[in-house]
Amino acid sequence: MPALAAEQIPALQDEVRALAQQRNALVLAHNYQLPEVQDVADYVGDSLGLARKAADSDSEVIAFCGVHFMAETASVLCPDRTVLLPSLAAGCSLADSITAGQLRHWRATHPGAIAVMYVNTSAEVKAETDYCCTSSNAVAVVEHVWREHGGDTEILFGPDMWLGAFVERETGLRDDPRRRGRFHIWDGECHVHAGIRESDLEIAHARYPEADLLIHPECASGDWAAEKVEAGELRAEQVRFLSTGGMLKYAETAGPGPVIVATETGMLHPLRKRAPQTEFVEVNSAAVCQYMKAITLPGLRDSLRDLVHEIRVPAEIAERARLPIERMVAIS
Ligand code: 13P
Ligand code: SF4
Repeated sequence: MPALAAEQIPALQDEVRALAQQRNALVLAHNYQLPEVQDVADYVGDSLGLARKAADSDSEVIAFCGVHFMAETASVLCPDRTVLLPSLAAGCSLADSITAGQLRHWRATHPGAIAVMYVNTSAEVKAETDYCCTSSNAVAVVEHVWREHGGDTEILFGPDMWLGAFVERETGLRDDPRRRGRFHIWDGECHVHAGIRESDLEIAHARYPEADLLIHPECASGDWAAEKVEAGELRAEQVRFLSTGGMLKYAETAGPGPVIVATETGMLHPLRKRAPQTEFVEVNSAAVCQYMKAITLPGLRDSLRDLVHEIRVPAEIAERARLPIERMVAIS
């Protein structure tokens, strides 16, 4: 769909607001959504924040401007509400990288292991999972598992291998080969964050050597930055591995910048809104998630008008997926 002309936006936003009021709908938007969609939402945030907002709301309808697994998560947490996803094209390559059957098979080969799955998975996968996590609490969830089940517990972590590598770095598993051998990582990845290369970070860093680097843990290039810190080529406080919500928190106290941002480019909009005085530089302008961008303002308007597309997780799956999601929501 061609981009909207600037003069079309205000009238469409008015329509969305009027329909949302009429439907008693809460409009939620992820930080990667198109700017005009973010600007009309009641709440904009990261996966964890959006799940919490959905759970806390009492509106009859939740219009989810994000991707399919996020709407499913909201539906599991709010089974009595109508959850709408404005476009069924809003999938996720990372969520597609593991099926429930694959997880069942993985578990069968590691009896007794605890499965910790990133929230970027289908509800069917969550139904086979012990704990869900997001990028903002993955480390806390894994440490919680060790506290609850013992520090030697075998863990199956998936589906994002780069988030898994981040957890290994942050928890010290890298320096503990025995325990590391009991932390298994699925080999899935997000095509957008995998496309952010070490060379992108090197070029940006060479251009702005003093700039802080905000890196989403899904980025394949996270190891590059961690090694540079270890080698003393980057200062530890210069490199921040953050969820999209964590990046916004960073922006609250940011100086004039420049600040290098390694994640999906939609993130630049909420960052610039939060800290207009700071210069944020995207590390790779091609890092665009076409699934997130499948949600448009006309699509959101039609969704609220026609109550489409309703996302409802079958009760039997929702029942099994609820506990790991609730555990995720409870752990910070
Ligand atoms: P956050 O949880 O950081 O918002 O990330 C969600 C996501 O899909 C990243 O690609
Ligand atoms: Fe999925 Fe990657 Fe898009 Fe996030 S950016 S929704 S992980 S495909």
